[in-house]
Amino acid sequence: MTILVTGATGNLGGAVIEQLRHTAIPLRALVRDRAKATALAAQGVELVQGDLSQPADLVAALTGVDAAFLVMPNDPQQVALECGLIDAARQAGVRYVVKLSVLRSGELPSTLQQWHRQIEQHLEASGLAWTHLRPNMLMQNMRWFAAGMVQQGALYHSVGETAIAHVDVRDVAAVAALCLSQPGHESQAYDLTGPEAVSLTQVAAYFAAALQRPVQYVAISPAAMKAARLANGEPEWYLDAEAELFACWQTGAGSAVTSTIADLLQRSPTSFADFVPDYVQTHPELFAPADRPATFPNA
Ligand SMILES: NC(=O)c1ccc[n+]([C@@H]2O[C@H](COP(=O)([O-])OP(=O)(O)OC[C@H]3O[C@@H](n4cnc5c(N)ncnc54)[C@H](OP(=O)(O)O)[C@@H]3O)[C@@H](O)[C@H]2O)c1
Repeated sequence: MTILVTGATGNLGGAVIEQLRHTAIPLRALVRDRAKATALAAQGVELVQGDLSQPADLVAALTGVDAAFLVMPNDPQQVALECGLIDAARQAGVRYVVKLSVLRSGELPSTLQQWHRQIEQHLEASGLAWTHLRPNMLMQNMRWFAAGMVQQGALYHSVGETAIAHVDVRDVAAVAALCLSQPGHESQAYDLTGPEAVSLTQVAAYFAAALQRPVQYVAISPAAMKAARLANGEPEWYLDAEAELFACWQTGAGSAVTSTIADLLQRSPTSFADFVPDYVQTHPELFAPADRPATFPNA
């Protein structure tokens, strides 16, 4: 049994490899650039070169694989590219795909939720066994705000005062690893949240305590957020999609807590209060005061 992990040099795929590499299961990582994955190779992970935009590579990369973890960044071609991987998996004889989706996939009108649902539906119709993992906003997104917290003492965001049940990537990855390595999770869609919903005012207070300096949450308008991040070079389609999502979150769509992680892992998911001091300690490069120029709004 071999497990193939896509996105292995990224946030979620990397965390899934980290969870699985202590098992005896052979691991294969689909990577665009082998040079970025030398650490994975050193851990015994087999590297196969491939790009989701080059479907010709994918069937060979997936041959001999039993189960695959599917994740890629948000991209205007995301639906086509992820569906292409699913088609290649079927052709290659893969049995099972665990798809990284998003909370409230298909339920909310926002573009990202709709894209993820289209991919989920393609997977469900493919004949492959499947599991959908639907995480809420990730605690690790705070990396985008680290420089502003250190240099400006401010966490700027346009999501308002709503409490959100953020989830730790490592808990999502632990669920992915469980699904990929143990039977019994087929045809399930798992909504994955942290143990409580917290406002960004509270999150800023956690960072202030961990950094031992003042950090305040500063609520800004969606227009101000978009203008500043456009100036930082981020693509307009993404900023618009994110603004749609934040508008949904402001109505409480990301506030509910699920017991899924605790039920599956038999332990509580990480709280934001516990996440922050650990993250500050283990990511000193993000919180070094002079390393990066302060930006508004820290994107
Ligand atoms: N952030 C959140 O709060 C959140 C919450 C729920 C769901 N999500 C979902 O999570 C996904 C993003 O995951 P992530 O944070 O792990 O992303 P990430 O850290 O940006 O990593 C993306 C990975 O995908 C690889 N990749 C990109 N384009 C590729 C291509 N064309 N072919 C093959 N590999 C490719 C990258 O490889 P390279 O190293 O070569 O670039 C990298 O390994 C999105 O679908 C998003 O909707 C995010």
